[in-house]
This record gives sequence, C-alpha cells and structure tokens, in this order.
Amino acid sequence: MLRLLSRAIVRQTCSSNGGRMPSVQPKKLKGRMFSVQAALPKYPVAPLEQTMKKYLKSLEPLLSEEEYRHTEKLCKEFQNGVGKTLQNKLLERAEKRDNWLSDWWRSVAYLGFREPVVINSNPGVLFPKADYNDIQGQLTYASRLIAGLLDYKVMIDEQTLPVEHLGKNPLCMMQYFQVLAACRIPLEKHDDWTCYPPDRPGAPKHITVIYNNNIFEVPVYGGDSKPLTTSQVRDQLSEVVKQGATAGEPIGLFTMEHRDNWANVYKKMIQDKTTKAALESVQRSIIVLCLDKSNNTMTDARTVSGHQMLHGRGSSYHTGNRWFDKTIQFIVGEDGYSGLNYEHTTAEGPPIIHLMDHCMKYISSGKDWSPATDVKPPTKLQFNLTQDVSDSLIHAKENADRMVSDLDLKVFVFDEFGKNFPKSQKVSPDSFIQNALQLAYYRHHKKTCGSYESASIRMFQLGRTETIRSCSTESLEFTRAMMDSNVSKQRKAELLRRAIDSHKQYTNDAISGKGIDRHLLGLKLTAAENNMEIPELFKDPAYTFSGSWRISTSQVPAKSESVLFFGPVVPDGYGFCYNPQEKCILFGVSSYKSNSVTLPAAKMAELIQDSLRDMRDVLAATMKANL
Ligand code: COA
Repeated sequence: MLRLLSRAIVRQTCSSNGGRMPSVQPKKLKGRMFSVQAALPKYPVAPLEQTMKKYLKSLEPLLSEEEYRHTEKLCKEFQNGVGKTLQNKLLERAEKRDNWLSDWWRSVAYLGFREPVVINSNPGVLFPKADYNDIQGQLTYASRLIAGLLDYKVMIDEQTLPVEHLGKNPLCMMQYFQVLAACRIPLEKHDDWTCYPPDRPGAPKHITVIYNNNIFEVPVYGGDSKPLTTSQVRDQLSEVVKQGATAGEPIGLFTMEHRDNWANVYKKMIQDKTTKAALESVQRSIIVLCLDKSNNTMTDARTVSGHQMLHGRGSSYHTGNRWFDKTIQFIVGEDGYSGLNYEHTTAEGPPIIHLMDHCMKYISSGKDWSPATDVKPPTKLQFNLTQDVSDSLIHAKENADRMVSDLDLKVFVFDEFGKNFPKSQKVSPDSFIQNALQLAYYRHHKKTCGSYESASIRMFQLGRTETIRSCSTESLEFTRAMMDSNVSKQRKAELLRRAIDSHKQYTNDAISGKGIDRHLLGLKLTAAENNMEIPELFKDPAYTFSGSWRISTSQVPAKSESVLFFGPVVPDGYGFCYNPQEKCILFGVSSYKSNSVTLPAAKMAELIQDSLRDMRDVLAATMKANL
C-alpha cells in the first residue's frame, strides 16, 4: 500500500539492520504454497528511457507548460548523465539478489518510518456484522474466530495453502508465511521486526488476549500439541474476562506513539526482567485478540466500528486495549461488530484478507477440532512500570487522543451496482472506480492531484507493490467534460472509456514490472547508498509534488462483505479503500478534520456515490443510443 513513501524517503537512507525474515524451507508440494516459488521471475529493473518517458507522461495533467519543460530538461540530463551510472549499479544489485527492492522497501517504507504506525500505516478492517449483542455472544464469536485461525494455520504450517493467482499468473506466497507469530519492535531511528515461523523448534503455541487493558498469554494448543476446540478456547477467554475484571494500565497506548518516543520507553521497560518477558510473550504470540467493551453508540454503527478497528476510538474507549506493533490483531466487540488491525511491514492486504475470509467461512461451517488434552490456563502478563515510564504513558494518552480526534472516516456500502455494471459495459471495474474517485475529487477541488493506487507485483519473487498513478491526461479530460454541461453524454462516455483504458494500461504495466515509482526510488536509493549527490531530478518540485498522494487508494477485495480503510498520507489528502463485490461496493473514506482544504469524509463519500451514478448514466445512455 505504501503511500507513505514520499514522506519517509526524504528522511531515511538505506539502513539494512532491521527485520529478520523467516528462513523458510520451501516444500514443493504440487500446486501448494511454495511449489512455484523458485520458478517465479525476478523483479526486473526497467529500461531507463522507458521510465523517463512514462514519468513525463504522468506529469502532464499535474504541471504547467513551463514546469513540464523544466522537468523534461532534467529528465534528459539525468538519462544522458548520472542516470546511466545509477542504472548500471542498480542492475548489478538486481543481479546479486532475489529482489533488488524488497530489503530497501521494508526498511525505507516501513521500519524506518518514524510517525505512529496507527492511522499512518496500519490499516483497519471491518468484518460483516455478526448476530450477537452481549459478552456471551462476543466470547463465542471470538472462540470461533480463533478456531478458524488455527484451522488456517495448519495450511501455513504444512505449506499446503494453494498458490494465489493474478489472472493466470502464480504469485509469490512469502507474505503468507510472515503474518503469524510476527511483530514490529521499536528501536531508535529504525525499528526491528521479528517472526517465529512454524518450522522452527519451539514455535509459539499461544495467542495474546487483551481485555480491559489487561494483557494475557493464552495457550491455544494442548500439551498434546493439538489445537483447542471452540469450547476450550471459550473457556480460556472466560477465564481472561474473570481475571481481567479490574482495568489494567493502558500500556498498549505506547504502540500508538511516534516510533522514537516508543523506542525510548521500550528501552527502559526491558530493563525489568519480568516486563521484558511479558513483552516477548506478546511478540512471540500467534496473533493478538482484543476483546472490546461496548461502543455505547450505534448511530452509523459501521463508521463508529471502523474507527474502533483503525485506532480504537481513543483512550476512553479501546485504544489502550491494543498492541499496534503486532502484525495481526483481531478485534471483537460486544455489539456484533468485529474486525482487525494489521501492521504493514511484511504484508499487503490480500494475505490478511485471505486469512479473514477463511475464518469467516469457518465460523459458519460448524466444523471443530477434537478436544486437546493438558490445556494450560491463561497467564496475566506482569508489567512493572517505573515512575518515568508511567509519566510517559500520560503523554502517550494525550498524543493518541489528539490523533484520534483529528481522523474523519466514513465506512459505507454503495449498493446500486457493483462489478456487474462495468463488466456489462466491457470495461474494467477497478479502472471504472478509480475514475469515479478522480471525478469525486475534481467535483470539489476543481483540479486533480497526485493519485496512488497499489498494484501487486507479487508475480515476481518477494514482490510487494508498485504505484498506479491513477491521474492521467485522459482522466483529467474526462473529469473536466463531466463538469461541463455543454459536452454531450456520448462524448462524456467516449472520454470515460478512454480514461478507463489508460488506467487499465497503466495497471497492466505496473503489475508486470513496467511501473515507474519503484524504479525511480531504486535509482535515488542507489545514489544515497553510494554516497553520491542526490540527482537534480529528485530535488525537482515536480518529483515531490507528483508523489504527494492527495488521493491514496487501494482495492482490497474480499469474499465476505468486509472493508478495509486507512488514513490519508498527506494532511490535505484522502484515503480511499474499496472492496468491489458483484452487486455492491464497500468503501472506507478518510480525511483529516484539521485540514481546511479537504472535505469531511461523509461529504466526500456522497461525491463518490454521485460520481458512480453519473458515470453509470452516461455509459448506460450511450449503450442504449448505440443499440
Ligand atoms: N470487460 C469485462 N470484464 C472485465 C473487463 C472488461 N473489459 N476488465 C476486467 N474485467 C473483469 C475481470 O475479469 C475480473 O473478473 P472477476 O470478478 O470474475 O475476477 C474483474 O472484472 C475485476 O477486474 P479489474 O477490475 O480489472 O481488476 P483486477 O482484479 O485486475 O485488479 C488491481 C486490479 C490493480 C486491484 C490488481 O491488479 C492488484 O494489483 N491487486 C492488489 C492490490 C493490493 O495489493 N492491494 C492491497 C494493498 S494493502
């Protein structure tokens, strides 16, 4: 998803100290998880001329004639000068590694990023509402969720998960191996990340449960190594609720801090042996399960619960009941709403959503394990806080509440059509939706802006994402025409189809290693790593401006009616995430309340819906006219 990069990269050079990746022993079981891993192509370094040409094209809708000419000159100089040296060095790097980008990416985009992970980097996900409304229902639902997780984990442990495909192409499955028993660890300037993979001796057999701000180690396997049944997990959770009746210190708030603040506190906390062991228990655990109390308000429950999943709604609600460094946190509320929050260092949305979809299916399946024996009870983890650390908690609380109060979110379902309509018009649904987002933005701001969509590059070994620059000359022409009552519907439809085709072409290029943003990043990092002066091309305002993603978007499709959301990545921007289903589209829209330029999320949500309707109307009208 990494839209944060433009901010992170200016501060961070190429540290490689953090992030121990699990050294997986891939099994080549036919059609299963790692069967094609070694045969996946390596992520290519695109030809320099190609990137320069595409970069300039992407700037056309964003720059004035004069600005464009200036950047064109810089591109030429770069291409004929230092760019050649950097390109050769990058090719050398690519020759020696499975993926020339992946270590840099993890470091620059995530572990070196110092702003709080919450809102800025960790997405939230809201699951479909479940049918319960009290603590008994909550514990039963949470137990089913954990039983489903353990069922999924068998496929990870035995590497029997089917290989995921994009179209006909198999995808790299490494991310799936890195989301369980994984955690980010705060360190000054550059965090660390750790994972306890299942193929190592002593692999973790417990989850962390947080209830009423109390943190517990909860075994989910018996002494016989068998997973617990739903009712055995439920017994464990009931015990947690009993032991956690008195509210604990909300130390989870530290994980919402600026990373250097948190690193500073963490360093002090691990001086105490008991506290250090407690922190390690959380880091080692398979996942964190947050059992939340009631939200006490149900006006626009979907959006309220969205806030709950994204940041916990502040210290007087659930934010202290979290551990945001954990790669996966399931969050189960008392009111039928549940979801998750995930730390982004090692995985994009799709592997997380795959796990979630499996759990959703498991919950309603009636399946269960046979009982495990010799089950150890939950242990409440002990944190001994010095006065100094307790004082820091007061600041952490203030900082968290400030961030929470500034974030505006709207979670909604557009139910007038889904992928079915664009498909019926023989156009790509994703490109259709992206153009609706462009139109919605243009409607209010009367201009366009740097626009990011994540494209998967997992067709390549250890691939993560590339940027689709969704704003194009074609999209701008289309949005302008839509706002002009003198333009005919026929013409609007033609321009829409052209804008969609242009977006689809960019998408196809991005997923097949012909994007531009990761290549430009690689060239810039090559200069930094070789202590060379940063080329003028990267100091050009056009480079910064075009990569300030005021529209930051991602499609995260799920089988269930779930939806993902994240914060804007610049103060005057929006975060847009969507899950297109066949007959509806679920959206999460965010903006910052403190920004005077952007609209409240609910207002922007209305513009998106208007845009989708208007686009349907022009296509449908011209379809009829053509019949
Ligand atoms: N006519 C009819 N149908 C069409 C069509 C056309 N011209 N073009 C596409 N379709 C169909 C597709 O066949 C597909 O059908 P399905 O629903 O049966 O699968 C469907 O429409 C969706 O295709 P499209 O909308 O073009 O999108 P996509 O599935 O190719 O996804 C991306 C595009 C960019 C989202 C995808 O390539 C990607 O990279 N996903 C990962 C993004 C990611 O990592 N996000 C998480 C970040 S945290």
